[in-house]
Amino acid sequence: MAITIQQLAQFKQSKKTIISLTAWDYSLAQVLDAAGVDIILVGDSLAMVGLGYSSTLPVTLDEMIHHAKAVCKGVKHALVVCDLPFMSYQASVTQAMNAAGRVLKETNAAAVKLEGGHPRVLETVAELTAIGIPVMAHVGLTPQSFRILGYKQQGKTVNEANLILDQAIALAQAGAFAIVLEHIPSELAATITTKIPIPTIGIGAGNQCDGQVLVTADFLGLSRRKPPFAKSYVNLREVITQAVDDFREEVQEQKFPAS
Ligand code: KIV
Repeated sequence: MAITIQQLAQFKQSKKTIISLTAWDYSLAQVLDAAGVDIILVGDSLAMVGLGYSSTLPVTLDEMIHHAKAVCKGVKHALVVCDLPFMSYQASVTQAMNAAGRVLKETNAAAVKLEGGHPRVLETVAELTAIGIPVMAHVGLTPQSFRILGYKQQGKTVNEANLILDQAIALAQAGAFAIVLEHIPSELAATITTKIPIPTIGIGAGNQCDGQVLVTADFLGLSRRKPPFAKSYVNLREVITQAVDDFREEVQEQKFPAS
């Protein structure tokens, strides 16, 4: 049975930790899903970890849909959420509806994620929810705004912290079913988690959130550089390099393939 947004709300009630990881292709999604991940996010970090760009800005809606389709084919259990990429939803509510509608119609993803807590975004979240499109919100460090925010921790001053708290409350009221809290102080994330009824999914936001997400390239040790708050649970760069060395040696020595 696939996880639903209603079940995620129950997870928060029953204090069941939500585990989320990103994916960008079929094989990876299949492995993460079979391992019991609750939410698989086709994040726009795809731009950097899958497509080699230096930020998330260049990835297009078509590219997100292409990868989300592949991910969805590999998933039986997890809730799949697909990021709306930069400038696919900011221009107007109509633009956001068209983009989110395409994601749901073309990919089999259950929900979209979009960044920010500006009143324009609140309106978009409310309108998408009203027409039946579940929305995951994302506040704190929002990489699509790195030209203004940089990649530094957000919410360090009282004013900034209050703004992020107000945004999280307003996004929940607008109908978001969950919210990513990225790179904010753990006390702020803990306060948000107790004050809003929807699950908080932290990344660089301490250990008091309802769940945690990591970019899978960081998680698996595939990224060249990872943010300070990320953790690699295995070093696949080393594992793969060793495998290539073993392959080369066996081919040179005519041990593989067998005659
Ligand atoms: O794009 C992404 O991978 C994300 C995560 C950092 C939450 O938005």
